[in-house]
Amino acid sequence: VYHTPEEVPAGEAPDCAIAIDVLRATSTMAAAFAAGAEAIQVFSDITALLQASEQWPQEKRIRAGERGGARVEGCDLGNSPLDHNPEQTEGRRLFMSTTNGTRCLQRIQQAPTVITSALTTRQATVDFLLRKQPETVWLVGSGWEGTYSLEDTVCAGAIAHGIISATAATFDTLAGNDALVAAVALYLHWQDQLLALMQQATHGQRLLRLNNLADLEYCAQLDILPIVPIQQEAGVLVPQTI
Ligand code: MLT
Repeated sequence: VYHTPEEVPAGEAPDCAIAIDVLRATSTMAAAFAAGAEAIQVFSDITALLQASEQWPQEKRIRAGERGGARVEGCDLGNSPLDHNPEQTEGRRLFMSTTNGTRCLQRIQQAPTVITSALTTRQATVDFLLRKQPETVWLVGSGWEGTYSLEDTVCAGAIAHGIISATAATFDTLAGNDALVAAVALYLHWQDQLLALMQQATHGQRLLRLNNLADLEYCAQLDILPIVPIQQEAGVLVPQTI
């Protein structure tokens, strides 16, 4: 488990790297695919996003940009998972740039398998890992501008807990990986109060100040979507249904 993209060791890659940004980028990616998006292309820079999306037919694209929790001017959408429904999203490519989530993905894009996860897709992620059996897995929280995020760590713990439960392994198998032991303990503490967790988290509070309680409620739902967003080429995700 890495708590921020900055913690990821340079020059190394696991078999499978998982980007997590529960509030809200990776929850929104899964919601966009559930609503029928054909692909999601991520950018760290809004100017690059606007330029690349110009090459795409207008009726086939959505530009989503978020900074500080708010929509970036010039983009069609901000970063709410609730913005996506089939009428708006089906068959379109989402060009997306967010404060931390898209940067996290770019930091791990060298791994042979890169996926994103959230609480909403936790079970799908577990099933994907059980099927693929990668030897090394990085669970990378997006954090907030280089600092720790509670909700991303809880999601990492939820994924690990799902693997342990499905394989009837014991918690002893985690011994020696302090960050993973801590993430699972944190998930066990919060598992029945995931919305309360969102409300206590720093970024949850930032989103509440921007009147986004409905987004917190959405992102706190466990295992509601059978989708794994998977990197097809650097910076481009497509959906895999589990
Ligand atoms: C991010 O990438 O930092 C987030 O997803 C921010 C947000 O829109 O809530």
